[in-house]
Amino acid sequence: MMPNPLHASHYPDAALHQRVNIVENVRIAQATYRLRFACPELAARILPGQFLMLRLERNDPLIGRAFALYQTVLSETGEPWGIDVVYLVKGKFTRELVNCPPGQSLMVWGPLGNGFPADPIEHLVLVAGGIGQTPFLPLAAEFLGKRRYGQPARTVPPARRVSLCYGARTADLLAGVEDFQALGVELHLATDDGSRGHPGLVPDVLRPLLERPELPLRVVACGPEVMLQAVAKLTSTWGVSCQVSLETPMACGIGICFSCVTRVKDDRGDWDWKRTCVEGPVFDARRIAW
Ligand SMILES: Cc1cc2nc3c(=O)[nH]c(=O)nc-3n(C[C@H](O)[C@H](O)[C@H](O)COP(=O)(O)OP(=O)(O)OC[C@H]3O[C@@H](n4cnc5c(N)ncnc54)[C@H](O)[C@@H]3O)c2cc1C
Ligand code: FES
Repeated sequence: MMPNPLHASHYPDAALHQRVNIVENVRIAQATYRLRFACPELAARILPGQFLMLRLERNDPLIGRAFALYQTVLSETGEPWGIDVVYLVKGKFTRELVNCPPGQSLMVWGPLGNGFPADPIEHLVLVAGGIGQTPFLPLAAEFLGKRRYGQPARTVPPARRVSLCYGARTADLLAGVEDFQALGVELHLATDDGSRGHPGLVPDVLRPLLERPELPLRVVACGPEVMLQAVAKLTSTWGVSCQVSLETPMACGIGICFSCVTRVKDDRGDWDWKRTCVEGPVFDARRIAW
């Protein structure tokens, strides 16, 4: 059969739609929780940078919300059986989610989105602001040769260094730092109020890595748009490749509603609307018409 040029292998034709049971819902930082649920098929297939839609089985809030894969959970024999997502309590959905106990069911659909590519690089630099660290733990694990993802599991040539530049308003909001530390990720933290790490913004801790690169590097960023714009500008100044994972609000997650569109430039510099849920959420930073 002829390949369809308007279709990509990660499009949600084969996404799973399941009722799953919550196993854990625990606080890991200020207003930040790790939700664990059992879903072996989904856990076996999902790639770093892909996301899931979660929906509570009630009419309000009616629509689901997108959450990045934080980590897959393995059995004693190394089989993926569950998924962790990490969420910040922010509005309607997350204020309800925080009160959901183990045993309660949720609707989940995924894996969704393109995810991060597995292109080899010697130094992978992850840049996160706010709750933007959530897609990076599996990517770091993969590039450090500690975990494999996908069905069949994809192969990623190990990086020599993986760094995380991570900024938040205050130390209590930095969530999951110890998970990155346990993997062997080099940390560069920043807080607006100076309560942990560099007092200031996350681009401040990224800049020295770009100015004095010891190895060929690639930047991957996720967080508030203003931070992504600053990171895109910095990396472009230093001629460093940069991918951004966008957190555009989404309603369906599967390409139908067009609530998630963003302006993406083509080779000629013209732009068109692209759906973040199917053409993204990961884009080359140079392509985004900020
Ligand atoms: C691909 C993707 C991955 C995501 N991964 C995570 C994750 O791992 N952890 C996590 O906590 N959140 C993540 N989000 C955001 C999440 O989907 C919800 O938007 C967020 O949890 C707020 O939902 P809520 O119902 O609690 O708040 P709402 O009641 O929907 O909104 C509260 C306020 O936030 C604004 N808002 C809503 N959604 C967004 C958004 N995406 N960006 C900016 N402002 C917004 C609203 O306008 C409103 O002012 C992700 C989003 C996307 C698209
Ligand atoms: S969220 Fe519906 S098209 Fe992207």
